[in-house]
Amino acid sequence: MKSTSIPASVSVIGLGNMGVALADAFVKGGHPTTVWNRSADRAKGLVEKGAVLAGSVAEAITASSLVVVCLSTYKVMQELLEPLQSELSGRVIVNLTTGTPEDARKTAKWVSVHGGQYLDGAIMAVPQMIGLPETLIFYGGSKALFETYEPTLKLLGGNAAYLSEDHGVPLIYDLSLLTMMYGAWYGSLHAHALLSTANITATEFLPYATNWMNQLVAPLLSDPVAARARDEGNFKTDVSNMNTNKLGLEHIINASKEQGISVDWLLPVHELAVKKVAEGYGADSFERVIEAIRKPQVI
Ligand SMILES: NC(=O)c1ccc[n+]([C@@H]2O[C@H](COP(=O)([O-])OP(=O)(O)OC[C@H]3O[C@@H](n4cnc5c(N)ncnc54)[C@H](OP(=O)(O)O)[C@@H]3O)[C@@H](O)[C@H]2O)c1
Repeated sequence: MKSTSIPASVSVIGLGNMGVALADAFVKGGHPTTVWNRSADRAKGLVEKGAVLAGSVAEAITASSLVVVCLSTYKVMQELLEPLQSELSGRVIVNLTTGTPEDARKTAKWVSVHGGQYLDGAIMAVPQMIGLPETLIFYGGSKALFETYEPTLKLLGGNAAYLSEDHGVPLIYDLSLLTMMYGAWYGSLHAHALLSTANITATEFLPYATNWMNQLVAPLLSDPVAARARDEGNFKTDVSNMNTNKLGLEHIINASKEQGISVDWLLPVHELAVKKVAEGYGADSFERVIEAIRKPQVI
């Protein structure tokens, strides 16, 4: 069903911080919107804007052919939907709950068995960014199904990126971006713990941290030549080899120990570099530690 001049009705299940923003975007986009939430009071503002509050999950699902789900976990979603199998028939479920790729794949199969269609999505934004043209949301599942609902889904985030027929792929992208964020974030906290041993404030350090991120870290992680080399398993380098990086890690560990701060996250990274050097890869790029991440049993 392509979008027509009369927007189709949409249901939103789950009105947490994110669900409210999603439902609000549909209401603003002119879609008749039915909402359901365990704590019904969360729907008050939406109902004032014209949304309809369903009395049950079943009512919300049967109110619209397109049902967007955004709950805290897949487990919660399964508990709510399990008893309602017949209601799923003929519905399109777009699940924007965060979980694992296997959660998404299993849910896709389960919806299909009960006669529904399924897209899994991953929101790369906070609720305040929902509805903006640049907001990125990943989608996976049938491409034809995505294209049918793309104009409606773009109300949630204009950068609606279809990735794969594999329903697990949006969450793989999502969690891969998040793991990059947590690695960098934790590293930054370690840096500030080290700086604070010499009474250097985060504010004082900020210009140098910013310069470092822009001049070295961002180019390192967004270099298309390096990405291709990684894809090809080409670990040659004339920049900074495994030996140099192993020593670099040792210096941070030794300095941190001297100052009495934690080295917990650095030890396993250092251990991988030591192992790769012992295997004879001292002249290779640090990138080679990916082998041990892919196959942790060899550590
Ligand atoms: N917030 C963000 O910035 C953000 C960004 C990207 C992705 N997400 C994802 O979006 C999803 C929702 O996040 P959120 O920020 O909206 O979380 P939230 O504010 O904590 O809302 C959680 C939602 O799940 C419902 N829920 C929890 N346990 C339930 C249960 N046992 N039975 C029925 N309903 C239950 C809550 O209902 P009640 O209101 O009744 O508690 C509420 O609707 C998560 O998977 C999150 O990872 C969020």
